[in-house]
Amino acid sequence: DQVKKIDKYLYAMRFSDETLRDIMARFRREMENGLGRDTNPTATVKMLPTFVRSIPDGSEKGDFIALDLGGSNFRILRVKVSHEKKQTVQMESQIYETPEDIIHGSGSRLFDHVAECLGDFMEKQKIKDKKLSMGFTFSFPCAHTKLDEAVLLTWTKRFKASGVEGMDVVKLLNKAIKKRGDYDADIMAVVNDTVGTMMTCGFDDQRCEVGIIIGTGTNACYMEELRHLDLVEGDEGRMCINTEWGAFGDDGTLEDIRTEFDREIDRGSLNPGKQLFEKMVSGMYMGELVRLILVKMAKEGLLFEGRITPELLTKGKIETKHVSAIEKSKEGLTKAKEILTRLGVEPSEDDCIAVQHVCAIVSFRSANLIAATLGAILTRLKDNKNTPRLRTTVGIDGSLYKMHPQYARRLHKTVRRLVPESDVRFLLSESGSGKGAAMVTAWASRLADQTR
Ligand code: BG6
Ligand code: GLC
Repeated sequence: DQVKKIDKYLYAMRFSDETLRDIMARFRREMENGLGRDTNPTATVKMLPTFVRSIPDGSEKGDFIALDLGGSNFRILRVKVSHEKKQTVQMESQIYETPEDIIHGSGSRLFDHVAECLGDFMEKQKIKDKKLSMGFTFSFPCAHTKLDEAVLLTWTKRFKASGVEGMDVVKLLNKAIKKRGDYDADIMAVVNDTVGTMMTCGFDDQRCEVGIIIGTGTNACYMEELRHLDLVEGDEGRMCINTEWGAFGDDGTLEDIRTEFDREIDRGSLNPGKQLFEKMVSGMYMGELVRLILVKMAKEGLLFEGRITPELLTKGKIETKHVSAIEKSKEGLTKAKEILTRLGVEPSEDDCIAVQHVCAIVSFRSANLIAATLGAILTRLKDNKNTPRLRTTVGIDGSLYKMHPQYARRLHKTVRRLVPESDVRFLLSESGSGKGAAMVTAWASRLADQTR
């Protein structure tokens, strides 16, 4: 009864399969726009060539450094890939802080900070005297003309450092390293985190040809046929495309399914009008979406007997990890009570049930929307291969996908329903994107050696 009331209240957030298929078709068109030479300049879904041409083939080897910047953690890794009988990978990593004043400050300070952390890492690894090849997972939209050049198109998520948009991040990092002068590094490749994830998973499963992130932000990449890439030379083989699907809807394509809560999230964000799909689905915004709904319901007297507290009214007080806790099947209601009590709203049993259901609707909407966009990528792959049944593997990472108790299951189920003529394996990237970045670096350094 409580549940039915909420269903009715939030009916605009619940989609039929018909609507999901419609969204899938819209995204398919957006992909085509991004891929076309004439339509690309104004396309909202950018479909960026990555210059990554194949998944790992088992022959990679060497000693590499990987930087992983842009997700919830800034990580530096050392990845050693060796070949005795069998390919083995050894990894050591360290997480470094990225304080808000640095990610919102000047670009040069941001890259000085990255270079400083890198110096610290190399010191600890005792490799300051070596010039190791380095791969850089940089999880923002970048334009590439080759692997080791990446021009930042626009900041997304929590980052907004000045003077970086429009610049090549390889040059900026190299400059910061040179300025220090206490060590050297050879940046061989910049990859998006979706690409790093696809490559990490591709190491274990050769069939992996899609990479997805559902974390702070959301995005996907996949292997496209070169003959369909008007903007890249050559017709043989494939290249990985970074879709930047977070920007889906920035031209108004999703207005019919956006709610007043989505609009409010957007207005209060660092990048109003941008990344509208991302704001409906990803971890950076989900807790806040729930909070905005609860505020409205409380104001209308539908929750907490109308009690509204300063905490409930404070931005950021409900986080996505709280949504995950509240949706746990056993302790969920106890968690709801704890979290709501901390907000001072004195929840009743019924309130807790209602809030749990609000969380379920918001996270279900997210999984459904991702199922639709992923469904579009899968049908495109299927058409490219011209096969009646697609057999493929999708590599996935990101805190929301990993931590939410129901998310993965719901996503898999909906994808299989929307693309019935497919056998999809979902592979969680256990070791982040660093390993994949090292694989790309291995490939790039081998190529560099050959042409030297
Ligand atoms: C990590 C990857 O595991 O997941 C990063 O190594 C990626 O490259 C991140 O950006 C995405 O998830 P989140 O939740 O940290 O944004
Ligand atoms: C944002 C970034 C994108 C990244 C995603 C996941 O959407 O623009 O490049 O892949 O977040 O981290």
